[in-house]
Amino acid sequence: MINIGKNIEEYLPPEILTLVKAAGEIAVSRGQSVYLVGGVVRDLFLKRRNLDLDLVVEGDALPLARQLAKGRDGKLVTHPRFGTATFKYGAYSIDLVTARSETYPEPGALPTVKPGSIQDDLLRRDFSINAMAVSIDPARFGDLVDPYGGKSDLDRHLIRVLHQRSFKDDPTRVWRALRYEQRLGFRLEFDTTTQLRRDAPIMERISGDRLRHELERILEEDYPEKVFYRGERLGVLRNLHLALMGNGWLGEHFDMAREACGSPKPNKNLYLALLVWRIEDEALKNFVERLKFGGDAVRVLRDIPLLKQAIPALAASELTPSGVYHILEHHRPETILAGALVTDSALVRQRLELYLSSLRFVELSLNGDNLRRMGVPAGKKMGAMLKALKEAKLDGKVITREDERKLVRSWLKKGKR
Ligand code: CTP
Repeated sequence: MINIGKNIEEYLPPEILTLVKAAGEIAVSRGQSVYLVGGVVRDLFLKRRNLDLDLVVEGDALPLARQLAKGRDGKLVTHPRFGTATFKYGAYSIDLVTARSETYPEPGALPTVKPGSIQDDLLRRDFSINAMAVSIDPARFGDLVDPYGGKSDLDRHLIRVLHQRSFKDDPTRVWRALRYEQRLGFRLEFDTTTQLRRDAPIMERISGDRLRHELERILEEDYPEKVFYRGERLGVLRNLHLALMGNGWLGEHFDMAREACGSPKPNKNLYLALLVWRIEDEALKNFVERLKFGGDAVRVLRDIPLLKQAIPALAASELTPSGVYHILEHHRPETILAGALVTDSALVRQRLELYLSSLRFVELSLNGDNLRRMGVPAGKKMGAMLKALKEAKLDGKVITREDERKLVRSWLKKGKR
């Protein structure tokens, strides 16, 4: 029996270690057993930081979760229907679930669940490296439960499914496999690769929401392009969407995105815009519908064809800053930045960047009220004057509030506008 109690004590910060040990003590007092499982066990061996702890309880997890949260400064959310609870404790999120076994009524469907042992619970998991548990009961603290050779696969840098039906049961595992492989610098085990390719088309049967969730998780990786590229080489990227491309262009532009944002994690919608930039309009529409995008993402995605149409006007040799502003004012900053990263024209890029870095922030000092007090009647005339004033400001013809007032007075004097 391998015991990694010492590693846990070194790996977890003291306050989390205390909490984990308390969970073990509560479990024992209730006649239950509790384990750390999944990603955190994997990352503990790999010495990678992981702020999401998963605890599996043999028996009902909810009373244990409530007792654990009691008197502690954190937030507990329970889901009685699923026998699960999440305890947010500082930067950590601790999931407590009842050990269960799962059976899949048909490929790609959601599983039927019933309470089970820790072995059952590990068997329902995706890959051997994610199917290890560590006891946190006081008498067995640190004992490793590894029925499927997870530790040996970790040492050999392998991503391996637990059984033949794994990808059929849950085709989202295709993307999970490639994410872990690329994140950890591991490789897919031979039979796992064959099964992944064989079963990837079953992705067609899963809901748009589940598919989108996987895509979003890819985009949260440090180098999402590696996952898309690997998916393309394996011939499965088309199962995420037929029109997607994952070749070198994508990596080059994701790199540029990280540099432009000065951050290793640019806005997800910027990545998304680059991912679909080369797709035809019709296919893009289909992609948005299939993956059921909503919120900001859908606004960015729908803006792409519109911005593409607008971009040629930005190449005109004579264009004032206010002209640039009017071309771009209704477009999304993420789309515009994607356009700037993609364009071959230095002039167009310069104008897109001018808009992003300054024009979009330009505000007048005077408002309608100020103009009214200066004698401008409310209505169309005022609207036109405010617009002309903003253009003057965008073009650098007025700078201060006093400049704005002077310009309005000169217009009133001439009786124009
Ligand atoms: N899991 C699974 N099949 C899935 C999703 C999850 O078997 N389709 C299991 C794995 O054992 C995984 C655990 O549930 O380790 C928790 O899921 P998740 O939080 O998605 O995985 P992590 O391994 O924590 O992944 P990450 O490091 O990307 O957060």
